[in-house]
Parts: sequence; C-alpha cells; structure tokens
Amino acid sequence: MLSEDMNAISWENDRLKLVDQTRLPRERVYLECADYSSVVMAIREMRVRGAPAIGVAGAYAVALAARQLAAASRQTLLRELDRACDEIARARPTAVNLSWAVERVRRAAHEQGDVAAIRACALAEARRIQEEDEQANRRMGQLGAALIPERATVLTHCNAGALATAGYGTALGILRAAREQGKDVRVIATETRPFLQGARLTAWELREDGFDVTLITDSTAGFVLSRGDVDCVVVGADRIAANGDVANKIGTYTIAVLAKENGVPFYVAAPVSTVDLATPSGDAIAIEERPPEEVTHIAGVPIAPDGVRVRNPAFDITPHRYVTAIVTERGIVRAPYGTSLGRLLRQASAASVR
Ligand code: MRU
Repeated sequence: MLSEDMNAISWENDRLKLVDQTRLPRERVYLECADYSSVVMAIREMRVRGAPAIGVAGAYAVALAARQLAAASRQTLLRELDRACDEIARARPTAVNLSWAVERVRRAAHEQGDVAAIRACALAEARRIQEEDEQANRRMGQLGAALIPERATVLTHCNAGALATAGYGTALGILRAAREQGKDVRVIATETRPFLQGARLTAWELREDGFDVTLITDSTAGFVLSRGDVDCVVVGADRIAANGDVANKIGTYTIAVLAKENGVPFYVAAPVSTVDLATPSGDAIAIEERPPEEVTHIAGVPIAPDGVRVRNPAFDITPHRYVTAIVTERGIVRAPYGTSLGRLLRQASAASVR
C-alpha cells in the first residue's frame, strides 16, 4: 500500500526528503532539501503539492531556516526567521494549510528562550504537524466512510490522497476507510487538466492500493453524472471560508454544479486546518495563477500556437450551496455552514487547549 511503502515527506539526516510528484508515476525520484529556499522552490514547482502536504513541507522549511539562519542572539534569529516564514508562506497563496503551519511553527519558536531551544522546538513542531495530519486523515476516513454506500462508484477530482497529505489522504482516505470497512468502492478519477494530478497521481495511488479505478477526461464528468454512473463525489479542499465556500482544484466548481443538477451528493473532505474562519466567503480567497506553459505544453511538448494568450487559475470556488457536507476529523458538518463550521472550530480549539 502506498502509504506504507513510500514516504512522500520525511525528515532524514537533517534534511527534508520529498518524493518529486512531478516525476510520478513514471519515476520515483526523491529531492533532499537541506535549506528552506529549496523547500520553497519545491512547493512553487509543485514537486510537493496538495494543501496538507505543503503545510507539512512548509513547517519543515521553517525548521530548516531556524538551523541555517544567522544566530548571533535569540532576537537576531527570530527576526531572520520571521522573514523566512513570510517567504515560505507566500510560496503558494491559496491553500491556507501552508500559512497555518508556518505560523504554528513560528509561534512555537517565539516562545523559546534561546537559540538551541528555538531550533529544537521548530523541528519538534513540524514533526507534530506531520503526525497530526496523518491522524486527522485516518479519523476523517472513519467518519466519512459512513457517507459511502455499500456498493458505490465515487467520482474524485485532482489528488487528495496520501501524496497530498502526511499520509492516507482526505478524499481518498474516506475511500480507503470505506473499503477497509468492507464496502465495494469503485472510483472515477478526472485527469485534472492542466497539471494532471488525477491521471498521474490519483490513478496511480489508487491502483497501487488495488482499487477499481477508471480515468476520465475532465469534460467527461457531466456525461457520467448525467448517466447515473456516480453515487457521490468526494473531493479535497485548499481553503474553506467561514460560510462554507470551498477553494479547490480548478474544475471542482463545474463538477459540483453538475452533481447538484443530477441529484448526486457532493462531499468535501478536509482537516480543520483547511477551514479559515478569518475569510468570510470564497470571494476573499486569493486564487493562484500558474505559468501559461502548464496549459500550452503537455509533458514538455508544445500543443498550442506559440504566443497564444493563456489563463491558468489553479483553483476555483465552489459556493457552499453546492456542498452536501464537509467531512473533517472533528465531525461531519452540513448547512448552514456559517454556524456549523464555527461550532466545529471552537470545539477544535477547546480540545487542543485541554
Ligand atoms: O495544485 P495542487 O495539486 O496543490 O492542488 C491540490 C488540490 O486542489 C487538492 O484537492 C487539495 O489540496 C486537497 S489535498 C488533500
């Protein structure tokens, strides 16, 4: 099983080791990041991707920065570290998990009294974020599996699996848990243009786990939904606003509208670290625009006329009215999300204070 035989993110010999997701599934190549700038680069180039995974990588980047930056005194180190944290958090703007994780390590570092303690604590906090994310996914899987019928065909978009997280996955974690509970789960994976996370990563990850998986082009989603071939849709999220609007991979909105039109439940799976109550609605979420070459080229081969104008937003917003339920490690919430998400987050912070 993928989550057992491959560590997508690990800390080894004082370095952050990442499986290079741009090379999967053809090659299994690892990157070893010895400084925070190389982690920033890996996040920007989507060698590590997926909201929780870039959160974990960002947390380790802060730990690397704490080790490498000038440390004449506690104050100098913290000042330099703050600068590095800003740079790390900016590597990709949409997934809130990145800034959330960076801020968590930064805050822990500021609570320490000397340089050695700052360095030790930054690494310990990054490890904790990684462990907690995997546990959250397993819990989310247990809870979310209840939404999956005994025999089900589930459509998923992008990759919200073990590769996109510290392990097990959010949307794919639910499918794994449903199968572990004895349910007969088939999966339809959209290829997810332009970066092809569905074709390259989800199809591979699920096949490695022995799932029955069918790959479709993104434009086929409406057809399979209209033919009654899909029992439910399960996707991940990069940021969930206070009103329940969901930022996720470009194309998610289209699928959500088509799911509603065809009476198919549309579920979003995400840890509470993806819920951003400071953002009132999807309109306030910054959408990352990616390089035109991702659209004009496939695997390095040009497919469009030279110089054509391109628009390449990496994410879209699914308004909350299309979301049947949001599955988190704290529970499953439904509309009205303005109330249910607020209650969930208060529970989460009460539990972490305890
Ligand atoms: O651009 P990516 O590949 O980082 O986008 C990933 C997604 O949109 C995922 O669905 C989301 O991050 C959830 S991953 C558990």
